[in-house]
Amino acid sequence: MTNTIKDQTVLRLIAEESKRQIDELELIASENYASPAVLAALATPLANKYSEGYPGKRYYGGNHIIDEVENLAIERAKQLFKAEHVNVQPLSGSPANLAVYLALLQPGDTVLSLRLDHGGHLSHGHPMNISGRLFNFVHYEVDPQTGYLDMDQIRKQAKETKPKLIVAGFSAYSREIDWVGFHNIALEVGAYTLADISHTAGLIAGEQLINPVPFFDVVTTTTHKTLRGPRGAIIMCQTKLAKKIDQAVFPGLQGGPHDNVTAAKAIALGEALEPSFKEYAHQVIANAQFLAKKLQAAGYSIVSGGTDNHLMIIDLRPQNITGREAELALEKAGLSTSRSTIPGDPRPPFNPSGLRLGTAAVTTRGFKEKEIEHIAIWFDQALKSRDNNQTLAAIKQQVADLGRRLPPPQYY
Ligand SMILES: Cc1ncc(COP(=O)(O)O)c(C=O)c1O
Repeated sequence: MTNTIKDQTVLRLIAEESKRQIDELELIASENYASPAVLAALATPLANKYSEGYPGKRYYGGNHIIDEVENLAIERAKQLFKAEHVNVQPLSGSPANLAVYLALLQPGDTVLSLRLDHGGHLSHGHPMNISGRLFNFVHYEVDPQTGYLDMDQIRKQAKETKPKLIVAGFSAYSREIDWVGFHNIALEVGAYTLADISHTAGLIAGEQLINPVPFFDVVTTTTHKTLRGPRGAIIMCQTKLAKKIDQAVFPGLQGGPHDNVTAAKAIALGEALEPSFKEYAHQVIANAQFLAKKLQAAGYSIVSGGTDNHLMIIDLRPQNITGREAELALEKAGLSTSRSTIPGDPRPPFNPSGLRLGTAAVTTRGFKEKEIEHIAIWFDQALKSRDNNQTLAAIKQQVADLGRRLPPPQYY
């Protein structure tokens, strides 16, 4: 495909980034490698079309084929997640969440969600985000001792604050979520429920984690994390909310959907319906649990003591390293990670006390426990030798050797 790009500067940058993705190991929990078929769909003439509206009701002509593409993505998402209604147009996770707020709330309404520095997301009401500026978000926290959500405390807060909406589903929480518990609390206080399964959608689709879609009012997810699709998002909801949600996405928030991305979403959802995707999801979790165990054996402290999903948060205070220092050292060793706050972090978010790791991407490359063991060793070596550029470069070479043996799915 790249031989059609004549712009040498862009071509060089694409080649460099493609090589980086082969030579380095992606441990950022929110990333993955989309399949060649998903990437190919993005670079098709579907990108040329305008399709404001919904299948059968467009504001532009020439959409009968796009209608079929969008309906296919919708039907596959319904089947995969057992959803009553699906909107596949959200351009990304944050606008999907904003659309839900616009659909269900009036400005100033109270919403209960997890604090950002306890594992929540910016679009769950951070004051700098449009969500936090328009609505009155009140935040629950994880228990600082155990790292787990405390459902009794959340119930108490819900009764005190009487939110119109309760948001669950997180960016940095490694434990199975008590969706039923959230649902029951919402019933008790008369709140809507929103599950943001952006991180774990692939593990839910692969039947490794509990699926909130059948009983939550609304569920949003990005399509590009564990679900392994293109950048974008979908919203699933019960039929009774379908009209509100659809109107909030268009014309409420967005203009035309990105039809090439819709086709790529349809392909990714089709891939997630394959039996092999269950094996993938299972291995993602097995790899994460194995990595957590190996790191704990090497003396690292994992928030909540382990993981039930694809990610873990490492509390680096015992090592006396900040998250940013660790991220930089690991990058020099060819390991991509992201710094993270830990619950109750005394340090600022730009240079917090923790680091978040995830196994969704390396598992797509075919990594199993044997390779994960190497990662754990390199991780420890890199942090211990963080001031020694020679050692970091030597690790980077070993990382690249393994990376080239098990490259990401190749498109270019
Ligand atoms: C829980 C959660 N929701 C929403 C998003 C936002 O997705 P996007 O970056 O596509 O706006 C993320 C992204 O990291 C996320 O973790």
